[in-house]
Amino acid sequence: MKAVEAVETELIKKNNTAFYLFEIGELKRRIGYLREHLPEGTAICYAVKANPFLIREISGAVDRLEICSPGEARICSTLGVPTRKMVISGVYKTPEVMEHMALDNSFHGVFTVESIRQYELLCGLAVKYGRRFSVLLRLTNQSQFGMDASEIESIIAARYDRPDLKIAGIQYFSGTQKKSLKKIKRELDELDQLLTHLKETYGYQAAELEYGPGFPVAYFEEDTFDESSFLSGFSSLLSTMQNKPKLILEIGRSIAASCGRYYTHIVDIKQNGGQNYLITDGGMHQIVYYGQHMAMKQPALSVVGKHTVNDEIPWNICGCLCTMNDIMAKRVFLPDVAVGDTLCFANTGAYCMTEGISLFLSRELPAIWLLQENGVPVRGRNAAPTELLNTPQYERTE
Ligand SMILES: Cc1ncc(COP(=O)(O)O)c(C=O)c1O
Repeated sequence: MKAVEAVETELIKKNNTAFYLFEIGELKRRIGYLREHLPEGTAICYAVKANPFLIREISGAVDRLEICSPGEARICSTLGVPTRKMVISGVYKTPEVMEHMALDNSFHGVFTVESIRQYELLCGLAVKYGRRFSVLLRLTNQSQFGMDASEIESIIAARYDRPDLKIAGIQYFSGTQKKSLKKIKRELDELDQLLTHLKETYGYQAAELEYGPGFPVAYFEEDTFDESSFLSGFSSLLSTMQNKPKLILEIGRSIAASCGRYYTHIVDIKQNGGQNYLITDGGMHQIVYYGQHMAMKQPALSVVGKHTVNDEIPWNICGCLCTMNDIMAKRVFLPDVAVGDTLCFANTGAYCMTEGISLFLSRELPAIWLLQENGVPVRGRNAAPTELLNTPQYERTE
């Protein structure tokens, strides 16, 4: 098997502009690590939004995939994800897309319900097409997502009047990068109370709790995070719950971040006002780290093929956008660099390539490579121009 370093040298030669590399071996190791550190029987649901390029490789390694838009649903279908693994989620469920799924008898996924309107929509479709859908009722975290506990209660209270929906349980997600076990404890307590109340008052025992714990990723130098003790603390919290439906953890970032590397080339070097600047062919439209504001924190990065750091010259690493905000890292020490060198940013497997402002300035979308477990890099996407999306078509309507 080729070492990642050999593959990266080969890919740098093939790509004359920024690109991503996602390592499937690392992705699988990561899922194995999480499974090892979580209580037996805990299922894992991959939140597709974190990185749709991993769907095919991840599909066999996780129990479910959470899908939040018609686009994500089409990607999953194209890549052959079995429908029984699909959780159709999202605050807006396009009625036509829901109808399309409802009339497909081979569709056996689960739907989340985020409002009474969504509940009625799914009931109506189930009746219309003679289907019985499995649903998870999403509890709100006091935002636009999900429903109040009182609404969930009213649905449960009247569940025998709507036999076309099987209420499998509760879904809950309140945010990402949650480092505080205290906060997670509060959430689990709230969920436990709700589940217990539903059981005691309405005789309803949820079969499933699909919970997004927002497990954190250590992106920056100052992040000190002992993951194995965090996960063991999390597992202890689970063991204290009174009501114990099957637990499915809905996770994106913590699964996908570590498998990704982002490469960008140094295209200019200059000194302005006594500050040293490296200009790259990438930028903040292609790399988004949670918690990175104005490059105040230093992400893990290296210069490919160069190892001895020169700690006399601090560099500001900037991208190629026309905004002063396009700073990828500030005052970092690097080996002696030159135009043509390639910078590698680690931990970029989750959200980086989807959350950026990729249409700004009509620059290219980077190519994506998937390093297979046999050591062979496979192209996930060619570098793609965006200017067509920013060019008016001037089509006449009549
Ligand atoms: C409903 C839901 N579940 C799960 C996730 C994944 O969160 P994370 O990437 O922090 O694990 C998200 C992310 O936004 C989400 O909206």
